[in-house]
Amino acid sequence: MNIIVTGGAGFIGSNFIFHMLGKYPDDRIICIDKLTYAGNLATLKDVMDCPNFKFYKADICDKEAVNQIFENEKPDIVVNFAAESHVDRSIENPQVFLETNIIGTSVLMDACRKYGIKRYHQVSTDEVYGDLPLDRPDLFFTEETPIHTSSPYSSSKAGADLLVLAYYRTYGLPVTISRCSNNYGPYHFPEKLIPLMVINALHDKPLPVYGEGINVRDWLYVEDHCKAIDLIIHNGRVGEVYNVGGHNEMRNIDIVKLICKELNKPESLITYVTDRKGHDMRYAIDPTKIHNELGWLPETKFADGIRKTIQWYLDHEDWWQPIVSGEYQEYYEKMYGNR
Ligand code: NAD
Ligand code: TYD
Repeated sequence: MNIIVTGGAGFIGSNFIFHMLGKYPDDRIICIDKLTYAGNLATLKDVMDCPNFKFYKADICDKEAVNQIFENEKPDIVVNFAAESHVDRSIENPQVFLETNIIGTSVLMDACRKYGIKRYHQVSTDEVYGDLPLDRPDLFFTEETPIHTSSPYSSSKAGADLLVLAYYRTYGLPVTISRCSNNYGPYHFPEKLIPLMVINALHDKPLPVYGEGINVRDWLYVEDHCKAIDLIIHNGRVGEVYNVGGHNEMRNIDIVKLICKELNKPESLITYVTDRKGHDMRYAIDPTKIHNELGWLPETKFADGIRKTIQWYLDHEDWWQPIVSGEYQEYYEKMYGNR
């Protein structure tokens, strides 16, 4: 099979490519990535020369480029990871989120209609459900929870999800959607909570916790997310949404304290900074549907996953050092300089 993976030079897309190339040596993986600030070809260096891997630098909003790639590659399956993915950046500049996350999705699906495919899979997020209150630990997001977004990022992802379901109903495009909780693991861009705290702690820099640090996220090791998508594209029912999450809720402050402990750094590095605007309080996924229908269960326990992840950052300074010393520094200064 020929499988197009968009956004494959980013965090989850690259981990998905490694998973698929390892598990299905007879499939071809074709990666489309614009290489924005979040895309990094160094991440893909080990697979670049694989005979069953091909990389195209292209924007998913560029209809001509996308159509040409579909014409060349005749994909059976398209998995769309390409997105602007950082909530804080979406608060600063929503426009590019609407372009990539919504228009890009429509361009890809139009190409799917034109050339024909067996499956279009949209990688979405639990953030489309908005947030849950901290004092109701009995509540979880199910696939029936209404869409109720908070940030420009989550709104753009929700817009894309609705468009995907519309293409299923209107044109009969064979689609599936996964809505996953917060991922962590290797190749996570240093602007996100876990890698940011690990790298700052290594440099004995302040650890900027938003608000009181009591917001809760439901963390899943990235490989478990990739395995869920693999199951959905092969065995999931078309037209369906699958929530993905491992019942692993943690408060931000507890994660940051754990990172300090693992790295043997003092908690006095923790600095409470101005809260994020519209900051979602709690995310928590009910994964019953994907478990019952597809037998998916998370395999990596948080205690093991976070240790593996921290060790990966310790062993791969060559990957993150060029990022944190480049244009990312300007972003960091802008976001955290006067916070
Ligand atoms: P990321 O920011 O690390 O990577 C995004 C990739 O998309 C980058 O390689 C970037 O170059 C590429 N890209 C951006 N705009 C593009 C465009 N116009 N055309 C082609 N390529 C483009 O993101 P991630 O964390 O790997 O997330 C991947 C997907 O998973 C996103 O759709 C995100 O919404 C979703 N998701 C992420 C999480 C998480 O915890 N990170 C959780 C649930 C869902
Ligand atoms: P993030 O990794 O940006 O993911 P998301 O906003 O998609 O959940 O942030 C995770 C949580 O950590 C979120 O509640 C915001 C918080 N946070 C901080 O407290 N400090 C930081 O520097 C960052 C980047 C995030």
